[in-house]
Amino acid sequence: MTWTLRRRLVVTVVGLLTVVAAVIGVVSALSLHANLQSQLDQRVRDANGRASRAFDGSAGAPLPAPSPLPGDGASGPPALGRPGSEVGTVSALVHDGLALAGYVDSQGDQEALTAQQKAALLAVPADGTVHTVQLPGLGEYRVSAVVARDGATLVSGLPTAADRSTVEAFALRELLVALAGVVIAALAASWLVGRELRPLVRVAATATRVAQQPLSKGEVVIADRVEDRDTDPRTEVGQVGAAVNLMLGHVEHALAERHESEQQVRQFVADASHELRTPLASIRGYAELVRRSPDELPPEARHALDRVESETVRMTTLVSDMLLLARLDAGRPLTAAPVDLVGLAVDAVADAHAAGPDHVWHLELPGNQATGTPEGAEEVDAVEVLGDDDRLRQVLANLLSNARLHTPAGTVVTVSVRREADQAVLVVHDDGPGIPEPLRSRLFQRFTRGDASRNRSAGSTSTGLGMAIVHAVVGAHHGTIDVASEPGSTTLTVRLPAAD
Ligand SMILES: Nc1ncnc2c1ncn2[C@@H]1O[C@H](COP(=O)(O)OP(=O)(O)OP(=O)(O)O)[C@@H](O)[C@H]1O
Ligand SMILES: [Mg+2]
Repeated sequence: MTWTLRRRLVVTVVGLLTVVAAVIGVVSALSLHANLQSQLDQRVRDANGRASRAFDGSAGAPLPAPSPLPGDGASGPPALGRPGSEVGTVSALVHDGLALAGYVDSQGDQEALTAQQKAALLAVPADGTVHTVQLPGLGEYRVSAVVARDGATLVSGLPTAADRSTVEAFALRELLVALAGVVIAALAASWLVGRELRPLVRVAATATRVAQQPLSKGEVVIADRVEDRDTDPRTEVGQVGAAVNLMLGHVEHALAERHESEQQVRQFVADASHELRTPLASIRGYAELVRRSPDELPPEARHALDRVESETVRMTTLVSDMLLLARLDAGRPLTAAPVDLVGLAVDAVADAHAAGPDHVWHLELPGNQATGTPEGAEEVDAVEVLGDDDRLRQVLANLLSNARLHTPAGTVVTVSVRREADQAVLVVHDDGPGIPEPLRSRLFQRFTRGDASRNRSAGSTSTGLGMAIVHAVVGAHHGTIDVASEPGSTTLTVRLPAAD
């Protein structure tokens, strides 16, 4: 799963905050515990001090009669019951393996200890330091033992339960506060990060809008820029915004230069084609003039003149095709008058039939399921498009001349025109050998032609511009052309927006 920057930032902030809160919580709970324990230890030592002062003050008096160990002393040691003894205080006096031990209960009365409690208490080493001891039935205690006069040992202890519950209550409160803090911080961070990232979102939106513009051809104006408020170079997002603007400026400039140079090339081709037409017409005229001259020409000269004429015809076609392509490239608007594709198809098939009588020509028209004949065309529905009559005629002528010139005699060519929803569809199908495989992917590129067409004997007018013109004219009419070709079946489908 990929995380958005916003989510990552929020999670990072909340994570850090949680760690910090946990560290603060643990450290403060531990130090509270240490503090309370040192106070408790001090009170334990004070109790022991009071006990030993009391015991030492009774010097000369006989030691109180202790109960034998293990056993329960009915009375406690002398320290207990003295003013200043806290509730819970345990105390013991050990002498000669015999002990007096007791504790102060919640009423302030002195109670005897059980044998196990006494044993646990007496296991504390008499080194003056405070130890933690578990007294069965009484819980955890901090206990200190000291050696007093006559080899007796005085033991005093206080329960840790109160301090422990203080620390626990503190930790619980801290946990609740930390949780609430983390939740609030998460909400605040989410809102703040979202607000801080908004400029970045705007910059991205600008870049996306520009990326959706068609930049690949034609004159491109990139009007979109990142807003000024998002281009402050003192902020990171501003730097991105400024860089995007700079880049857009460069891109626009580069595209304008590309367009400019394309225009120049197109203009050059258009001018050159245009300029060539007049001299070509003169050459053709003079050649014809000489051929028709009354003086008999030697056969070589006649042949040469024939060649001059046919090459001039070929070149004239080439030049006018190039001129047409240059004009279509320049986006020169075509006339947009209603044109009936049915009529066009009827004429084109009639022409093709005349030019290629060895091929079999079929025409399929809407409302006329049977193989149509040009004569039957009156009864069929018109299929109209808005377009340029001459150019659309040229499309059909090019497609039909291909079906005639690049297929052997006897090939069946079917032209059909129909309307599909809001489209006018024109299909030219032949059962010839198919478009050579290497040509198919670049059929609509200029000067694409098969080797057979290239090597055809002199006199062929094949230039490889026919399909490029079809493609450009269909494109200029906002239509599409598809080609499907395999040996035995070649289908070219032209779709144009139908006129209402
Ligand atoms: N119906 C078809 N059957 C077989 N090959 C075809 C067919 N149509 C086109 N081709 C192949 O595609 C090539 C390109 O066709 P295109 O019409 O662009 O050029 P051309 O016919 O060679 O020359 P031009 O049409 O400019 O006189 C042709 O040379 C031919 O090899
Ligand atoms: Mg052709």
